[in-house]
Amino acid sequence: MTTIFSGVKPTGHLTLGNYLGAVRRWAEEDQHRADALFCVVDLHALTMQHDPARVRRLSRQAATLLLAAGLDPEQCTVFVQSHVDEHARLSYLLECTATDGEMRRMIQYKEKSAQAKEAGDSVRLSLLTYPALMAADILAYGTDEVPVGEDQTQHVELARDLAVRFNQRYGHTFVVPKATAPTVAARVMDLQDPTSKMGKSHAEGAGIIYLLDEPDAVRKKVMRAVTDSGRDVVYDRAASPGVANLLEVLGSCTGQPPGKLAEGYDSYGALKKDTAEAVVELLHPLQERHAALVADPGYLTTVLRGGAARAREMARPTVDAAYRAIGLLEP
Ligand code: AMP
Ligand code: TRP
Repeated sequence: MTTIFSGVKPTGHLTLGNYLGAVRRWAEEDQHRADALFCVVDLHALTMQHDPARVRRLSRQAATLLLAAGLDPEQCTVFVQSHVDEHARLSYLLECTATDGEMRRMIQYKEKSAQAKEAGDSVRLSLLTYPALMAADILAYGTDEVPVGEDQTQHVELARDLAVRFNQRYGHTFVVPKATAPTVAARVMDLQDPTSKMGKSHAEGAGIIYLLDEPDAVRKKVMRAVTDSGRDVVYDRAASPGVANLLEVLGSCTGQPPGKLAEGYDSYGALKKDTAEAVVELLHPLQERHAALVADPGYLTTVLRGGAARAREMARPTVDAAYRAIGLLEP
């Protein structure tokens, strides 16, 4: 059976980018065809300035949204990273496998360390070692596939490299994983700045659709999306990034290729209107389930406890094997 692992960071409210790039596939496909684990990676939320109460709140909210999006605890394992010690335990061994140079080459490290410096904050060491922890998340479970948006493929490549290197040095221990990205909407762009990713930790909200946005807020954001100075609706990411982004969102919502959709529009207004309605419709059932889940907080607690117990059991043998292989004495 294929094993699938993926995660989401509780650093902000989940966005349409998270949903179209990752979570929707987890719910619609991945949980049904594999042994699948989906994790709220709270340890990763501590790599930049953070507020403890907010991380706590967002962790529960992210887990609630995963269930609202359709993850079924009977079909897959939903849990919180810090509840399973094996992640941090394995991360250290992978820090002893990775090099300083390969960590510093990570695009996300370069971007986020620059961002921290700009804000006058110091750069946390964990921001640099983050990919070792992410690799541990993946490798602890013998993961074959990692369904993520495009921005995470570099980190998954690194996890692959570390698995191969560890296996070569110390004997076969880890399955070598691979990233899988969706064909459309692998990188949903900010509606106000279609050259940068729609990211949940951005301070500005006008270009970001959050999964819990009210229908009117969604409509307003889409109708105000920055398009291009031209008038023709063409699917060209380089020449018309704003229009291409809308076409991808609409295509992902409706299951149609963006290039084909473009042929059916002769104005930006009509494209925006249809895109807004498609997003509203897509989010509606998720928002309804979210409201029901919030009314029963005990249910989430039970799901997360059960998920952590199952995850621990799955990770333990591999992490123990890695400890032995690298030269640590059996206790
Ligand atoms: P994060 O918000 O960084 O924890 O990401 C959780 C998942 O959502 C990862 O698989 C990301 O690659 C994916 N993701 C985040 N933002 C976007 C986006 N704007 N477009 C597509 N996928 C995204
Ligand atoms: N780094 C990922 C992100 O920012 C989240 C993540 C952490 C993850 N560990 C993972 C994703 C393991 C897939 C597999 O989106």
